[in-house]
Amino acid sequence: MNEILDVMSAHRSVRAFLSDPVPDGDIGRAVAAARRAATSSWIQAYSLLQITEVERREQLADWTGGQPQVSQAGAFFVLNADVRRHRLVAQHLQKPYVGNFETFLVAVIDATLFAQNLALAFESMGYGVCFIGGLRTRLPEVDALLELPDDVWPLFGICVGTPDPAVETTTRPRMPVDAIWMTDRYPDDGSVLDSIARFDDEAAEHYAARGLEGRNWSGGLWRKFATPLREHLFEYYSSKGAELR
Ligand SMILES: Cc1cc2nc3c(=O)[nH]c(=O)nc-3n(C[C@H](O)[C@H](O)[C@H](O)COP(=O)(O)O)c2cc1C
Repeated sequence: MNEILDVMSAHRSVRAFLSDPVPDGDIGRAVAAARRAATSSWIQAYSLLQITEVERREQLADWTGGQPQVSQAGAFFVLNADVRRHRLVAQHLQKPYVGNFETFLVAVIDATLFAQNLALAFESMGYGVCFIGGLRTRLPEVDALLELPDDVWPLFGICVGTPDPAVETTTRPRMPVDAIWMTDRYPDDGSVLDSIARFDDEAAEHYAARGLEGRNWSGGLWRKFATPLREHLFEYYSSKGAELR
C-alpha cells in the first residue's frame, strides 16, 4: 500500500458534518489537484459551482429529498458537465459547433473524473465528502434557482466538510476484485450470479452488524430499478442544449 491507496481504501460517504467552513485555501488546493484529471481531447468540459448563500443551501437540501448535509456541510458544490466554453469559442470565432450524444457523454465523463479526483483530494486533507445525486430529483427547479445558462448541465452535488466525530460512519463493502476484474471474456451469467451471491453474504453481514437483519445487496438493488428513475431528465438536459442522440 501507499498513502494514495490508503486514502482511496478508507473512503466512506460522510453525511454528518461539524459546522466549520472549508477554507478557500483548501478548496483551491483540492481543485488545483483535481483538475489534473485526464480530460477527453483536453476539452476540460466541467465546472464546479460553490453555493454559499444560506437560503439557497436550505432550498437545495429540501429539493434533494430532505438531505440535511446539503445545508450543513462546510461547503457545498454543484458539479456541472459544461460545454458552454466550447460553444462560446465557436461563436466567437464564427465557426460551427455541432453537439451530439458523444459531446454530452464526454462532458459527463470529464466532469465525473474531475469529481472523483476532487473527492480524493479533500479526503486526503482529512475532510469527508458525500456526492448528492438527489440534486437531479428537481433539476428544473435547481436550474432556475441557480440561474444556469444553456450548455451547463448539473450532474450531482458534492458536500465537503469536517466529519462529525460523534456520528459513526462505516466502510460499505464492495464487490470482490475478481467480480470486477475480468480477463479477455465476459463471464457467463451463472458466474456473475455466483459472485453476486458471494457479495450478498458479505453485504448481509455488514447490515446485520448494524442491526439490519435479513438485508443484502441484491434485495436493495432490484427495488432501485423496478420503476423508472427521474424521467424528466431527458427533457431537462435537451432543453439546456444537450443533444441526446
Ligand atoms: C453520483 C453519486 C450520487 C450520490 N448521491 C447520493 C445522495 O444523493 N445522497 C447520499 O446520501 N449519498 C449519495 N451518494 C453516495 C452513495 O450512496 C455511496 O457512495 C454508496 O452507497 C456507497 O457508500 P460509500 O460511499 O460510503 O462507500 C452518491 C454517490 C454517487 C457516486
